[in-house]
This record gives sequence, structure tokens and C-alpha cells, in this order.
Amino acid sequence: MGLGVVGGGVAQVLRERREAITALIGTPVVLRHALVRHREKPRVLSPDLLTTQPKDILYDPQVHIVVEVMGGELPALNYIRQALEAGKYVVTANKEVMAKHGPELLALARERGVDIRYEASVGGGIPLITPFRQDFLANHIAAIYAIINGTTNFILTRMAQEGQDFASALSQAQKLGYAEADPSNDIEGIDAAYKLAILATLAFHTRVRPQDVHREGISHLSARDFRYARELGYTIKLLAIGRAEEEGVQVRVHPTFLPQDRLLAKVDGVFNAVQVEGDLTGPVLFYGQGAGSQPTSSAVVADIINLAQDLAFGPRRRPPLLLEPPIPLKPMAQLRTRYYLRMSVADRPGVLAQIARVLGDNQISIASVIQKEVDEAAQTAEIVIMTHLALEEAMQRALAEMARLPKVAEVSNFVRVEG
Ligand SMILES: NC(=O)c1ccc[n+]([C@@H]2O[C@H](COP(=O)([O-])OP(=O)(O)OC[C@H]3O[C@@H](n4cnc5c(N)ncnc54)[C@H](OP(=O)(O)O)[C@@H]3O)[C@@H](O)[C@H]2O)c1
Repeated sequence: MGLGVVGGGVAQVLRERREAITALIGTPVVLRHALVRHREKPRVLSPDLLTTQPKDILYDPQVHIVVEVMGGELPALNYIRQALEAGKYVVTANKEVMAKHGPELLALARERGVDIRYEASVGGGIPLITPFRQDFLANHIAAIYAIINGTTNFILTRMAQEGQDFASALSQAQKLGYAEADPSNDIEGIDAAYKLAILATLAFHTRVRPQDVHREGISHLSARDFRYARELGYTIKLLAIGRAEEEGVQVRVHPTFLPQDRLLAKVDGVFNAVQVEGDLTGPVLFYGQGAGSQPTSSAVVADIINLAQDLAFGPRRRPPLLLEPPIPLKPMAQLRTRYYLRMSVADRPGVLAQIARVLGDNQISIASVIQKEVDEAAQTAEIVIMTHLALEEAMQRALAEMARLPKVAEVSNFVRVEG
């Protein structure tokens, strides 16, 4: 279902690697139909395999595996459900469907004696779902730190390395085909939140839904933030963070200052990386191409091969996705982290003392302050503050109080700091 970037790639791999795939399964995988919207478009498949009718696939008893690579929540979710209910195995690359409905679909598959695999839904060609469902099982996962959106990582890399502002880095990403005409899913962190919800559910054995993820996008970052970050020894990344703490699991997607010497800080361009911290493994880093026709086809075709092996040799009964006991989600207000603040203030004596008092009253201590560039005409200066560890709710209160100070023209930005 779907014969676009991913579906077209999958069809090609199945054709070009037919012999090798047949050898792995002992019987060939035959592509019987491809669901599309527009039959007239030129395709990698012969026209007699194309259909615009989902029932041609869902009601065909010869179809054992349905590969959903259409995207979007609906109608994809309905087709996946129908396929599972009809006793068909399913492979999907759909992060939205799996983030919102994954546990129900896994349970439905189990009830019907089949399976649904979704390796391509997070990190394109990077193996992530299978490692969480198999290789990390002996661990308690303490944390996940992930760069899982190539579009935003490309934009942030351009801003960091070339001093571009957000709008021009975005338009370059669009010209190169890395960002869509409507880029909001990427730049608002929605795509990353879907992927984090999927990974955190697996990692922490608790149901994490997209709406549980605290989410902030990248459009408020300016070239100045990148300049100051570099000066202070940091780089800025859109991080998806999942952490298991005593009070609960913390899940958040937001721009983050990362020390330049951290491996994740060196992940540039459209590349993705996921750092997993298991109590037994210690840190493990997955790095690679998180999107694109071939990397994503690699994950989809591997899922098809695995399911076809189950069909050929008898299914390996896998344990259900264990989501018990539920772990509470830690509210964002309870987060303790460090902060970068940038504000524009009146260039007058006593301003810094006022700001320090607001921070101090909220139990936030300052690690360093830089005063920058006086705008002589407007008689303003820019102040950059790095704090020590502070409570998010205290920081939010302090930000509101600082914005009300008569000598603070604007709190221009605040970014959380890791490490
Ligand atoms: N692109 C990537 O690098 C990548 C990476 C990881 C995961 N994914 C996921 O893979 C899925 C597919 O992405 P894509 O980039 O391949 O998308 P795409 O290039 O837009 O292809 C979508 C395909 O699905 C068909 N389609 C869409 N809605 C349909 C409907 N209602 N009925 C029938 N056919 C329909 C389209 O038909 P027409 O061709 O007739 O328009 C097209 O062939 C998405 O869930 C995406 O998030 C993509």
C-alpha cells in the first residue's frame, strides 16, 4: 500500500534481490499488488500490478503480508487493522500510526496469531525497533538521547556552520528536497515526538503517547544563539530525550545545548543518531541515514523477510509488548536542567543586579554571564546567562518575572542545556 519514495524503493529491492531473498526464505516473495492514488503516474512496477482499490489487497487470500507505506494516520490505520483482522501480517513505516496506536495494533496482531513489524518507522535504515525488542531486553534503559529528524538537523547544521538564519537554512533544505513545502511536522518537532513516543514505549515498557511528549520546535533559534553556543563550547541540536527517573519517565523534544565534545554534537546534516543508555550495556550509539528510499527500504524489506520466514518456518511466538506496571510520566515542571538565556536589556547600571535577584529569588544560580554588543542607538545591551541546575517551574516563573522588569527589553531566547 503506497508506491512512493519508500514503496518504490521496496519494490525495486524485492525485484533486484529476488534470488538472495528467496534463498533466505526458501520460497520467493511475490509482489502481487501496489495500492496508489494516481494510476497514471510513471512507476517502477508494471501497470497490471497497480490498483486504487484497497480491497484488492485486503480481500486477496493470496496476500500474506501487507506493506503499508502510504503514510498519514487515516486511512492507513484502517487498512492496517483490516489486514490484521483478516489474518495478514503487516509491515509499516508509519510513525504516526505506530506512535498513536502501536500497542493496540500489536495486541490485535497477537490476538489474530499474526504480527506487525515497524522497523522503518523510526530512524529509516538504522536498526532501532528490533534492538529494543530483542537485544536490550536484559537491561533497564536509563535514557535515550536522539537526533531523529534529518530535516531539522540539516537546518541546525547550516545555522551552526554557516551562520545562516533559520529562514534561509529552511529554504535551502526545501530546495534540496530535505524539507517539505509545509515543513511544520519537522520544524515543530511533531515528527520527532512520534518517534520518541515509539522508542520510549519500547525502552521504558510504559505507554508513551505523542501528546505525552513535551515538544518545542526550532524556529525561534537565531544565528546569534549559535554564535554564543560556539563561544561557550556548545552546539545546538533538536534532541528527543527519554529518561527514566525515580519519580517517573521524562519525555521531551526541544532544542538543546550540547557540549561540542559529545558524540551527538558531531552528528551533522541529515544524519540521525540515537544514544541508548542501558544499565548493563552502558551507552550504545546508533548512527546512520534516518530517511531516504534505500535506507528505509532496507528496514522494510528486512521486516518482510522476517515475516516471510515466520510464514515459511512457523511463527516464532514473541512475547507481547510488556507495558506493565505503568510508570508515571514526570511533568515538565519537575525537570531539573541547566539553561541558556539570552535577553536584550537597557544599557544602564543595576540591570544585571535586578536579573540576578529574580533568578536568586527563584533558587536559580548563575554559572556565567556575558554582556554583548551595545546597540548605541537603542541604548540596549545583550546579556547571555548560563545557569547551574535549576527546576523548570522555577525557571518559567523567573522568565515571566524578568520579562516584566522595566529594564529588560526582551527575553529573546532560552534553551535547555545538557551535559
Ligand atoms: N521517505 C522517507 O525517507 C521515509 C523514511 C521513513 C519512514 N517513512 C514513512 O514511510 C511512509 C511513506 O513515505 P513516502 O516518503 O514513501 O511517501 P510518498 O512518497 O508520498 O508515497 C506515498 C504513496 O502512498 C500512496 N498513497 C497515499 N495515500 C493514499 C491513499 N489514500 N490511497 C492510496 N494510495 C495512497 C501514494 O500514491 P500516489 O503515488 O498515487 O500519490 C504514494 O504512492 C510514511 O509513513 C513515511 O512517514 C518515509
